[in-house]
Amino acid sequence: MRTAILEASPTSIRLAGALIRAGRLVGFPTETVYGLGASALDASAMADVYAVKGRAADNPLIVHVLNALDAGSVARMGPVAEALADRFWPGPLTLVLPRLDGAGTIAVRCPQHPVARALIEEARRPLAAPSANRSGRPSPTEADHVRSELGGRIPLILDGGPSGVGVESTVVDATELGLQILRPGGVSEEMLREAGFGVKEARLGRGEAPRSPGQKYRHYAPSVPVFTVAGGEEALKTVRAWAVETLRRGMRPGMIAVGDEAGGPWPAFLFADAKAMAGGLFKAMRELEAEVDVILALAPSNEGIGRAVVNRLEKASGGRFYPPGHALPEFGERRDEV
Ligand code: TXA
Ligand code: MG
Repeated sequence: MRTAILEASPTSIRLAGALIRAGRLVGFPTETVYGLGASALDASAMADVYAVKGRAADNPLIVHVLNALDAGSVARMGPVAEALADRFWPGPLTLVLPRLDGAGTIAVRCPQHPVARALIEEARRPLAAPSANRSGRPSPTEADHVRSELGGRIPLILDGGPSGVGVESTVVDATELGLQILRPGGVSEEMLREAGFGVKEARLGRGEAPRSPGQKYRHYAPSVPVFTVAGGEEALKTVRAWAVETLRRGMRPGMIAVGDEAGGPWPAFLFADAKAMAGGLFKAMRELEAEVDVILALAPSNEGIGRAVVNRLEKASGGRFYPPGHALPEFGERRDEV
């Protein structure tokens, strides 16, 4: 299948809406990351989403709607959900709610991006949309990233420029009175608390069953290993020492950090703060995986959107997450072909 990339315009969005109604899949921008959209009313289109992504069948999709009223057509909102929607929609907050038909729960999100909104309008139905990456890979934040993930598998990608937030929406379980953050994201725990909502992040204890299927899968991982140092005074020094050690082993390091100096002759993505790092994290992983043997990252502090960045680094690192001062563990071979 040939994949067209069209700049988002009223005409291309109208075409995309028609494709969605015809049961086809469309890549499109949201304010968080690019999504892979399908009609939420079309079981066969949704099955294609799983096939195209290589996604596990037990990991449900988020349904995207234009407003709280439309959310009410698929989910039972309730007063707390209404209040959350009132304060944070449209925006990067996904609510897990009881399904209207009583069959379990459903995650609903009301995106802010004008192209995402126009597409939902043109499609005239809610859109089921996961991030537009192959399962387990970093999320796409530009149309071209979607092409490299899903090119040849979908008919159309709408190009709306880079996604702003850069990490996915915050997923909040609002099915019970005690709100729980299942995935930290664009709306931080602090923002929720400041708005008067008592929330806490659901962290998995040992042997505990995940509340959100997404919690149990490897995620956001580029094709080279990622090693992360938890933030702190000494952390940047540790990342630099790791980079030097990587060179000593005859391999090529790449760096992702908050800071303004790489400290050596390796490719580095340096960000002014955690918010900027959220915006560029997935792109940095994607560009570095093409030219280095290992990615060395400095995690920001867990505050605000920093928590979402740390979460993505934890998952991308797959447990290779160390305190400052830790020696660089052994890792695989130099790749001659990248
Ligand atoms: O920012 C976003 O949310 C992006 C853009 C495209 O909107 N979408 C996105 O979708 O990140 P996806 O499918 O990559 O992630 C959805 C997350 C997964 O962790 C999934 O397990 C969780 O939401 N989820 C979906 N339905 C759920 C449910 N009923 N209960 C608990 N967790 C659910
Ligand atoms: Mg995803």
